[in-house]
Amino acid sequence: MRIAHITDIHVERRPELGQLGNKRLAGALNLYVLGRHNHFTAAAQGALVEAVMAAKPDLVLCTGDLTATATEAEFVAAAALMEPIRTRFDWLAIPGNHDVYTGESVGRFAQHFGALAPVRVERRGTWDVVLVDVCHPDWLSRGWLGSGGVSALETVLSTGEAPVLLALHYPLRGRDGARHGPATRACIDAEAIEAACVKNPRVKMVVHGHEHHGYRVEIPREGGGAPIASIDPGAGGYAFLPEKKRTAHFCVYTLGEAELEGVERFAFDGERFVSEAGGAFASGG
Ligand SMILES: [Fe+2]
Ligand SMILES: [Fe+2]
Repeated sequence: MRIAHITDIHVERRPELGQLGNKRLAGALNLYVLGRHNHFTAAAQGALVEAVMAAKPDLVLCTGDLTATATEAEFVAAAALMEPIRTRFDWLAIPGNHDVYTGESVGRFAQHFGALAPVRVERRGTWDVVLVDVCHPDWLSRGWLGSGGVSALETVLSTGEAPVLLALHYPLRGRDGARHGPATRACIDAEAIEAACVKNPRVKMVVHGHEHHGYRVEIPREGGGAPIASIDPGAGGYAFLPEKKRTAHFCVYTLGEAELEGVERFAFDGERFVSEAGGAFASGG
């Protein structure tokens, strides 16, 4: 089974003045006054969709931040962008913190991209894809599953024998292998989520987004044994800025019956996505 993993597309549409309440005003300042909107481009986003289609995966998995400030206009544009993928391929998605940017935006993600639950299991082939939604509107851009959600995750993981790919928006670990931070833009209960994973041999890999420069780290397993592969492809909508060592990426995972067999990472070269020279993450971020 081959899974294309995309994340952090960040489709932007300049908000109307009347939509600039509270947090979105800060976000709009960041995007349109401080120039962050140049970080994501339609060229990369369009090429991403073409490259995913060409990869012909069995499943497309999106780990959130499809939009920038979760306005209706951005969701409509993001849904139109993803439509060729969603009409041809199996599709699973969870929101990112940008997709639930403000209280009034909650519900839009589900309306445009599918139902949500804190913990959801989707069987694909011999694998259980466990989708964990930790995103909520929050001034400090923090995520959390909560104690009830962590219990639900533990119950899910203790049920059945299938290998597990766990997907969430926020990293559990940073690129240095330490706990992901700073706390203001991280998942508050990453440690509890990770604890549920490392004690369960079913969990083979964790995939996420949120950090726009991708990386792979290995999470050590309690009591030894093969570590859990933790992978962030990097932002799929990132502008091509080679002088800043910045471009868009996505990954294709090859899953055997019970193990992750291969990771291929694709990078945007300004025109199209090409397989990363030297193997996945050989380029660094
Ligand atoms: Fe993002
Ligand atoms: Fe994010």
